[in-house]
Amino acid sequence: MNTVFPEGFLWGGALAANQVEGAWQEDGKGLTTSDMQPEGIFGKVVRRKPGDFCIKDKAIDFYHRYPEDISLFAEMGFTCLRVSIAWARLFPQGDEPEPNEAGLAWYDKLFDELAAHHIQPLVTLSHYEMPWGLVEKYGGWASREVISCFERYARTVFQHYAHKVKLWLTFNEINMSLHAPLTGVGLQGNPGKTEIYQAIHHQLVASSLAVKACHELVPDGRIGNMLLGGLIYPLSCKPTDVFAALRENQNWQFFGDVQCRGAYPGYMKRYFRDNNIKLQIEPSDLTALSHTVDFVSLSYYMSGCATAEPELVEKLRGNILDMIPNPHLQSSEWGWQIDPVGLRTLLNMLWDRYQKPLFVVENGLGASEKPDADGKINDDYRINYINDHLVQAWEAINDGVELMGYTYWGPIDLISASKAEVKKRYGFIYVDLQQDGSGSLRRSRKKSFYWYQQIIKSNGAALKR
Ligand code: BG6
Repeated sequence: MNTVFPEGFLWGGALAANQVEGAWQEDGKGLTTSDMQPEGIFGKVVRRKPGDFCIKDKAIDFYHRYPEDISLFAEMGFTCLRVSIAWARLFPQGDEPEPNEAGLAWYDKLFDELAAHHIQPLVTLSHYEMPWGLVEKYGGWASREVISCFERYARTVFQHYAHKVKLWLTFNEINMSLHAPLTGVGLQGNPGKTEIYQAIHHQLVASSLAVKACHELVPDGRIGNMLLGGLIYPLSCKPTDVFAALRENQNWQFFGDVQCRGAYPGYMKRYFRDNNIKLQIEPSDLTALSHTVDFVSLSYYMSGCATAEPELVEKLRGNILDMIPNPHLQSSEWGWQIDPVGLRTLLNMLWDRYQKPLFVVENGLGASEKPDADGKINDDYRINYINDHLVQAWEAINDGVELMGYTYWGPIDLISASKAEVKKRYGFIYVDLQQDGSGSLRRSRKKSFYWYQQIIKSNGAALKR
């Protein structure tokens, strides 16, 4: 069997604006949902006062240090870098008629720097942040108004960057809104199911309108969706547990089903009926939804289990997504269960379901680390983690799955999303930054830096199988 990945397979890393850029108030940028949640995507909303410290305000200062970081990515051999555009850099309040030129100019510089290093950008339109102005004024995605604000933003960037960016994604982990409604759809407080699904409906319409706009304005471009690949196994082989797992998987596949098939699936209509969820869906929304994505992208960190027995759910549910832990798997320091074979299963599952090219745009291991006496970080645990996941991705390719690429999360230490921690480090590159904001921000290479370089250079042949 061929040991290398397909020709043209994209190798690289993935970042998000609010977790790396910093410069939270520079060049006219407006406040975002991320700025208002200094403790992370599940944290409370904090009205920021001058002088309040938040680790994300400066983050790893990518806004000023991107040339150095991109040259390090190029040294590893990246052919692709996933980044996101902070919507509020371009439309500070979210509903201005015209974009902020300074915001457009910064991303121009970023894409030019990538081009100079022959690194292809993969750009997420919205990664876990939206302009706070839209939350205050319209109640976030609860309002249909936000659809046209997003469409204006999307059309602006497609028009402006069409010659520089050919690969696009709409909303990061669109299914996460079910767990973090403020981050996902800009809903404050404790919204009910109807409110959440109505906001999700508006966002799905906006995602499809962005697909349409991309096809019009970037004719040689491709646009995908982005799903949190929350693979769920039955806790036992009891038929009721198997069905519970199917239902749990449908909870997130629903988003992909709408984005790939262009309509609401029957199981979701039933769920709405059974739960008395009545959505306001305009006839024009149904036409909009028919604009389906060109490819499916996903994040994959862990798998979980489901059972039909409520007392077991109560007793066992674990990690941030409330999944039931799998007794056969080990966990990371943060309790995320490590399951490389799950990636092969997931890729096959999505390929069978959609028959569209897939792209793993996030996968990675967060660990607490500090340099040893020689200033080195020997992160063999990370090397093993990625090796084992890439081997399974390669198996999936051999199963017949069309896989466009793999962008590791995050190739440089950054601020974690769930709890805004910097001690949860993912990088091949160490950043000297501590949780209290101290540190020189100096970048240094970990052992995995050289390992990933070899993997890319050999197009996967150097993996341990
Ligand atoms: C994904 C997000 O959920 O997981 C990223 O798209 C996030 O933004 C990543 O950083 C890892 O999660 P965390 O909480 O460890 O940063």
